[in-house]
Amino acid sequence: MKDLSPRKDELDPIEIASIDEIRTLQLQRLKWSLAHAYENVELYRRRFDAAGVHPDDLRTLTDLAKFPFTYKDDLRDSYPFGMFAVPRAQIARLHASSGTTGKPTVVGYTRRDIDTWADLMARSLRASGLRAGNIIHNAYGYGLFTGGLGAHYGIERLGATVVPMSGGQTEKQVRLITDFRPDGIMVTPSYMLNILEAFHKAGLDPRDTSLSVGVFGAEPWTDAMRKEVEDAFDMHAVDIYGLSEIMGPGVANECVETKDGPVIWEDHFYPEIINPETGEVCEDGEMGELVFTTLTKEGLPMIRYRTRDLTRLLPGTARTMRRMEKITGRSDDMIILRGVNVFPSQVEEQVIATGGLAPYYQIELYSAGRMDAMRVHVEAVPAAADELSKTAAARMLTKHIKDIIGISAEVVVGARGDVERSQGKAKRVVDNRHRG
Ligand code: DLL
Repeated sequence: MKDLSPRKDELDPIEIASIDEIRTLQLQRLKWSLAHAYENVELYRRRFDAAGVHPDDLRTLTDLAKFPFTYKDDLRDSYPFGMFAVPRAQIARLHASSGTTGKPTVVGYTRRDIDTWADLMARSLRASGLRAGNIIHNAYGYGLFTGGLGAHYGIERLGATVVPMSGGQTEKQVRLITDFRPDGIMVTPSYMLNILEAFHKAGLDPRDTSLSVGVFGAEPWTDAMRKEVEDAFDMHAVDIYGLSEIMGPGVANECVETKDGPVIWEDHFYPEIINPETGEVCEDGEMGELVFTTLTKEGLPMIRYRTRDLTRLLPGTARTMRRMEKITGRSDDMIILRGVNVFPSQVEEQVIATGGLAPYYQIELYSAGRMDAMRVHVEAVPAAADELSKTAAARMLTKHIKDIIGISAEVVVGARGDVERSQGKAKRVVDNRHRG
């Protein structure tokens, strides 16, 4: 794989400013953001007053801990525009996340917010090893989802050529990647596996593509999956993180030269890790729930927003700003099986580590009498694998799950295509347990 590290003079100066400079900027911006939220959003005014805090009480960055949290439900309860901090006419764009039940969460951006987003996406792409003049195939979904358009404007801001492919039409993805010869691809990691399969079906060697970088995010994926995709396409796979409530893609991005967890663009977002049960702030390095406060957002300032993503903060390496450990789970996705906590990503690692299995999997939860049970659906490789090797692979995966994760799961090795293929964010868990 090519060395794609950006030169120092290609970076935004703040990316490599001193920690003191970054903290000073953050404090100044945080004061503005708290005041902006308090003065313009009724919910924040009520919450701060009830907690007996005022934006003037923030003297140091650690004072932020005195301020109340904000939750996804706050956005739902104020559906659609109740938490916007500017008159509706100043909102240049809306996005929304579908949400599995009930009302979607709606987010709004001013012109300046959109501009900042494009800058941070361009910075993220540069960190990924992409540059002006490159062609970038964008297979994140366009529409209300922030992935497609967020990436799109970042690619343009970088000065690269954007292929606005969006998700779906997998065979067409293969054709355009082959014909347009892009340098980079932006897509969810699970959909990349779908594209990989389509390359094989078309009789093409994915290692022959022009791709040198994939910028993967919007869902958890493991280092095992990184290796799988890097080997399959002979390209770098870097992690991009973001969420609609805070901006969209590009809140944090991994650097191609280190691939050691996404760097949080701390000049625009202030991260904290908290203990999800007590709400107390953890030290850097401790595992907990990621909480973000926006520092420059005009349309929808978010103060101490509870992401439900579990990770820890790590010191800067390729940049001065702190990194977050690659997210392998959200508190919402945690499965508790007979008292053991399991994340789908732990199962993913074992599926990939087991010889004779394709990297597609889905976890089914079901009721066995009064107990909860887990079944893992996977597929054998090659597609023509005989029964004997399928049974051997099933046994091996069952054993790995038992020995390493500590739970008993049934493994079903199906035929090619039995496991539902992802079109964007993969559905890793199907819950068929009886209710009540
Ligand atoms: O998924 C934004 C995005 C688009 C990020 C494209 C990266 C690339 P939402 O739909 O609001 O926004 O979902 C946000 O997705 O809280 C995480 O749980 C998860 N997530 C996003 N990126 C990653 C990642 C977009 N790199 C939620 N690793 C977040 C793990 C991720 N989980």
